[in-house]
Amino acid sequence: MNITYTRPALQAEIEKVAEVAGYLWQKGWAERNGGNITINITAHIDEALQALPALTEPRPIGKKLPHLAGCWFYCKGTGRRMRDLARDPMANGSIIRILPGCDSYEIVADAPVAPTSELPSHLAVHDYLLAKGSPYRASLHTHPIELVALTHSPKWLQKDAATRMLWSMIPETRAFCPRGLGIVPYLMPSSVELAEATIRTLDEDYDVVMWEKHGVFAVETDILNAFDQVDVLNKAAQIYIAARSMGFEPEGMRDAQMEELKAAFKLPK
Ligand code: 13P
Ligand code: ZN
Repeated sequence: MNITYTRPALQAEIEKVAEVAGYLWQKGWAERNGGNITINITAHIDEALQALPALTEPRPIGKKLPHLAGCWFYCKGTGRRMRDLARDPMANGSIIRILPGCDSYEIVADAPVAPTSELPSHLAVHDYLLAKGSPYRASLHTHPIELVALTHSPKWLQKDAATRMLWSMIPETRAFCPRGLGIVPYLMPSSVELAEATIRTLDEDYDVVMWEKHGVFAVETDILNAFDQVDVLNKAAQIYIAARSMGFEPEGMRDAQMEELKAAFKLPK
């Protein structure tokens, strides 16, 4: 029995994950098992869930994350496809709880589906968000084609070079991804080093960071909002590429136009 069915608020969050997983597949950003999603569902955990027995032995996180005490997460399963998750999120992901000591977890429901290989980054980011009192509860890693392509040129790996270019392609990009795109130099997927570099870069005040030659990592209040930030950035990258493939360097919005936008939308940067 899917434990979310009788809990409408939890079910709604899981349905958002399934909706986003479908978009990721449709966009071509989720080849094979590419990408992962975790959401902090602690607010939806009732006493009956607290009492559920674990389905697995404790597993190490690889790091002590003190702000995750008592936390629960829904995690995409490692090796699982987003297109399968879109149909059946509880068969292609699982619910885990962090154990006392904050350096291990156990799988609680619905089935013992091992969480994503990027769990170190996801959990370390959730720990960071809680530590700073952020309302963000969702994190998304995906492989958006055009944004990943940009990172194959050193030009776009300079701090905020890609942000400025992307913001200037269409006004909505700055309005709806107001902190821009942070850059994390290439590091081994799934590594604790990648988790730490991701947090350092988010802490420079970004909601979306780019893992060089790999993909993006985005955080937001919920998973739909995380998806939207990546979607507007990738749309801007597509406009840039469309102009270049028509044979010219796009002009981009002018500095005065960008400043006007910043004031009108009361943007943070
Ligand atoms: P998982 O299948 O383990 O979630 O890995 C996908 C991925 O994109 C790794 O970076
Ligand atoms: Zn990946």
